[in-house]
Amino acid sequence: MPQVLEETIRQLKSIRLALILLGRFSWLRMLTRERVSDKLPDARIGWLAFEHAYRCDEYLAHTYQEQSVRIYWSEDAKRYASSDPSGGQIDTILIDIGSRIIKWITSLQMTIEEVPVLAPIGDVVRDVSSSLPFITQNALEVLHASSFDDSARTNSCVCRTIQGPRHVAIDPAFTPTDSLMDQPAPVFGDSVELATPYFWTLAMRESMASESTALSGIEYDGLPISFYRDIAKQTWDEMRHAQMFFELAVELIPYYGASLLDSDPRKALVHQFKETRTGLPVPKERNLYEAMWNADLPERLVIMQIKTEGPAVAAIRKKLKTKLCVVYPKIRLAFQVDEQDERSHAAIGARWLKYLIPDSTDRAELMAQAELLRGVLLLTSFSHYNSISLPELVYKYSTGKVMPVAN
Ligand SMILES: [Fe+2]
Ligand SMILES: [Fe+2]
Repeated sequence: MPQVLEETIRQLKSIRLALILLGRFSWLRMLTRERVSDKLPDARIGWLAFEHAYRCDEYLAHTYQEQSVRIYWSEDAKRYASSDPSGGQIDTILIDIGSRIIKWITSLQMTIEEVPVLAPIGDVVRDVSSSLPFITQNALEVLHASSFDDSARTNSCVCRTIQGPRHVAIDPAFTPTDSLMDQPAPVFGDSVELATPYFWTLAMRESMASESTALSGIEYDGLPISFYRDIAKQTWDEMRHAQMFFELAVELIPYYGASLLDSDPRKALVHQFKETRTGLPVPKERNLYEAMWNADLPERLVIMQIKTEGPAVAAIRKKLKTKLCVVYPKIRLAFQVDEQDERSHAAIGARWLKYLIPDSTDRAELMAQAELLRGVLLLTSFSHYNSISLPELVYKYSTGKVMPVAN
């Protein structure tokens, strides 16, 4: 009997590790996709995987006094994750992970039939296979068994173990046109004419927010599972926002077209979108993902969650008071959802920055530094998409010219 219990705990720990890998590889696959509608299911899988992994982790700590897991890539999985894998290669890895999860759950269920006193373990993993229906029994062994073995972990630092993709694709609905250096990004205004381009540009930026949080979850090892659970929540939230604002823009486009004069060149863009579902103009620098790629985790938390999403809450509240929100209840609902989620994202940023830098003086210093660095980080996207060297751009904008920062 003691071996049965030991084996059952070992299997539950392996399921926990497999779910963590499932979440991280789903994020990686998300970063290889183009369309928001294709990225969305991967963001959801990431969330489900970490919710289940967190539940296993809590149960192991609560019942068996097992230490909560810190997350590290296994050597084997890291090799795949850092080799810039294609979507197809990641599919194979996900099938492998999924089939192992099924195998361990089936084995746990058989054990519980024989040893009913272990029933709670069955309940902990009961919903895993029904909420992740794509996982099947196809036995496809890609990863080494040590990837699912807790005792094989040797690392101990919070560090950027791998580097995720340097660039991501934007949805084919968008066409990069003018540079932010010449033309500022659309801002929200209380009319369909102003709000529609703002919504599609926002959709692209929301997608980048999701991609940059997923990037942190993929790249950084050594944090507690609750960090990745937070990241999983935000990654799915942001991709749902991207889809929500994109659909809102698509719904408004006919009214936007009607609000333009026949001589307005934007009328042709509306026509093109109606015919081909492409051509919505966005900045040449796209969604500024490179700025996040070039930042480290504390800088990302300051620049994105604390300094952008925190103040965004107040800005959304102002938008909720506009006439447009009265006329279009869907716009009001979108902003209401956004406001709640952004508030939680700002809290995620504050929580993990404090974890990484517990001393308040050091934290304040890092925040000030990250703010100073923000402009340079944004210029990395400018440099990439305009083929201008970074030093040239830094010189240009540090000698008096105002930085064309996207709001
Ligand atoms: Fe968002
Ligand atoms: Fe957010």
